[in-house]
Amino acid sequence: MNLKGRSFLTLKDFTPEEIGGLLDLAAELKAKKKKGITGNSLKGKNIALIFEKPSTRTRSSFTIGCVDEGGHPEYLGKDDIQLGHKESVEDTARVLGRMFDGIEFRGFSQETVEKLAKYSGVPVWNGLTDEYHPTQILADFLTLREQFGTLAGLKLVFVGDGRNNMANSLMIGSAKMGLDFVILAPKSLWPGEELVSLCRGYAQESGAKLTVTDDISAVEGADAIYTDVWCSMGEEEKAAERIALLSPYQVNAELMAKTGKENTIFLHCLPAVKGKEVTEDVFEKHADVVFDEAENRMHTIKAVMVATLGEVQ
Ligand code: CP
Ligand code: NVA
Repeated sequence: MNLKGRSFLTLKDFTPEEIGGLLDLAAELKAKKKKGITGNSLKGKNIALIFEKPSTRTRSSFTIGCVDEGGHPEYLGKDDIQLGHKESVEDTARVLGRMFDGIEFRGFSQETVEKLAKYSGVPVWNGLTDEYHPTQILADFLTLREQFGTLAGLKLVFVGDGRNNMANSLMIGSAKMGLDFVILAPKSLWPGEELVSLCRGYAQESGAKLTVTDDISAVEGADAIYTDVWCSMGEEEKAAERIALLSPYQVNAELMAKTGKENTIFLHCLPAVKGKEVTEDVFEKHADVVFDEAENRMHTIKAVMVATLGEVQ
């Protein structure tokens, strides 16, 4: 796998082999870190971390992943820089590209992260947009591999807002990596048809299955149930509407029992709103794996930076 110089904007741009390679590298870096071994592949590299939206895991993962590999991360919050106030994305990109070796962006528009990549000339990593959250999928898939030893053939059911960044990115990743993937959501929250049909194409190549349904019996046989907040960042005003639409799709003990399996795991990208998309009892029962998943953000994000920007020292 050679990803040197590449940006990481959406999983659409990566082959199954490349995604698998990033997971292998993340597992290797994780094993090393557990032994107290860090690296220096980002020595001398300066990394900009642009955040238009708040973050706990993603910010911490980029910071620690970068420092562990000998690089310097610089946090640029939305009120700290001119981007979006006084200066265009194109100009900000050209300035940052002259000073930084890599740029992480979290914010609203996918177009912004794509423009940053186009105009900065350095690797740009998508730390979440309204449309996609690709680094999260790497952490989710590393966790699934740790739990089941494989990805292909696993039945993964995403329950909730089936058209948000998580649903979109899980669908792309699952279709590429050969999972049996289900989006379980009310019809008005189904993913866009264009993306579904693109993913059906990936699924044909990988042997993945892809189902979009509003029928709760689709959880039967699930190896993993995944949910996310009902209102993503920036959609807070939709709370009442979403509660009405999504309450029947809450991940609770009854829904987990409908899988018919004893060993189904529960995943959540976090932050979680307990009592809404998942009940406290289900969350706590599966907390060990959910926090492995959170930890894996760091190992996988480190792998993305090392693969796209790192130098063998
Ligand atoms: N899962 C995730 O991206 O968390 P943060 O919003 O805390 O970064
Ligand atoms: N869908 C959520 C994911 C948070 C990691 C959001 O965009 O707020």
